[in-house]
Amino acid sequence: MIVGICKETFPGERRVAIIPDVIPSLAQANLQVIVESGAGVEAGIADSEYEIKGAEIVHGRRDVFRRADVMLQVRSLGSNPDAGREELELLRQGQVIIGFSEPLTSLEETKLLADAGVTSYSMELMPRITRAQRMDALSSMATVSGYKSVILAAEHLPKMFPMFMTAAGTVRAAKVFVIGAGVAGLQAAATAKRLGAVVSAYDIRPVVKEQVESVGARFVEMSLQTEDTEAKGGYARAMDEEFYRRQQELMTETVSTHDVVIATAAVPGRKAPILITEDMVKAMPAGSVLVDLAAERGGNCECTQQGQTIVLHDVTIIGPENLASSVPYHASQMYAKNITTFLLHLIEDGNVRVSLEDEVQRATLVTHGGEVVQPQVRDLLGFSTNAATQKDETNAS
Ligand code: NAI
Repeated sequence: MIVGICKETFPGERRVAIIPDVIPSLAQANLQVIVESGAGVEAGIADSEYEIKGAEIVHGRRDVFRRADVMLQVRSLGSNPDAGREELELLRQGQVIIGFSEPLTSLEETKLLADAGVTSYSMELMPRITRAQRMDALSSMATVSGYKSVILAAEHLPKMFPMFMTAAGTVRAAKVFVIGAGVAGLQAAATAKRLGAVVSAYDIRPVVKEQVESVGARFVEMSLQTEDTEAKGGYARAMDEEFYRRQQELMTETVSTHDVVIATAAVPGRKAPILITEDMVKAMPAGSVLVDLAAERGGNCECTQQGQTIVLHDVTIIGPENLASSVPYHASQMYAKNITTFLLHLIEDGNVRVSLEDEVQRATLVTHGGEVVQPQVRDLLGFSTNAATQKDETNAS
């Protein structure tokens, strides 16, 4: 079976689906890898590095799609809806596509993939179970984003992060406050700590207190009702407006005494909660920096502008998009490990074996046999649960 990798076409996307190091593990499973020339250049990987590990370099995207039984992508059609349209005519029935695809929001694109007859799997839908941890690309990318958010803040802050005691006087350590201590938030807290800042963090799930402390940060206690804040899978539950209003009130002082605020609070399937109002921004020290990692989901600050860096009331507010792509080498390395582990999980006797008996496949298989089969996506499309979801074992191509 042939596995194809193409250069990503989403504007500004610098990651690549696999790096050379994972090729031997694919070869061991009798998979041949073909890579479009230049696919890894933006991530700092030359064609020759793929070749050394046994891949064939192909000149021309069209040829990769034509020959590949399985396409591994960072962004497949659903998360690359404009440039990705050109791929539609390159797809063929039975071909397998694996990548991020935003299936819960890109419903039209998902239907197009079903109509093309491809078997598509979405990396976002990986279940958060121990067995699937090595395939959890969302966590990998959140790790990279959390790290990079601190680097961005450090670059914009007119202060240094660590404390210095020099002949020219003492420099006080910067104070960093992280809101939301999930994967990205914990990584942000750990990175800020490594850079020498004094770090505090808050999350509505009280269970994360220990994790916050384990990276050397202080957990900020708030007199909020914090029972029932955790939903299935360790995610936060959506709270009502009154809860968020009270949270804003309680956080005002903390926010106003920090040099950097990194906001990462999110509730799956919802717009991010607004936790920082314009009045709270006004109360922040001049020159302070707010990095709103929730910008792509509407932002945790009401002043955030997605994809932009603005200065408001002397505070720099950064609303980054696709932050993982700004560290393309390591983001690709982690993603490559996730996606190849997943592909190898799907392979049986040299072929992708579609099996809805398997919990991992049941969660991630979005289209198959000309239909949308993922139950949540079918619900959103208003389709009934039908035979498509009951089909179990078939070879994809
Ligand atoms: P996320 O990106 O959905 O949310 C980020 C954080 O924001 C969460 O910690 C959430 O509790 C917090 N949050 C939501 N509303 C908030 C509010 N009003 N104020 C303050 N914080 C708020 O979550 P992420 O990072 O994807 O994961 C959340 C949890 O899922 C992890 O901490 C972990 O326990 C679990 N997890 C489990 C995995 C596994 O079992 N394989 C893998 C990765 C994460």
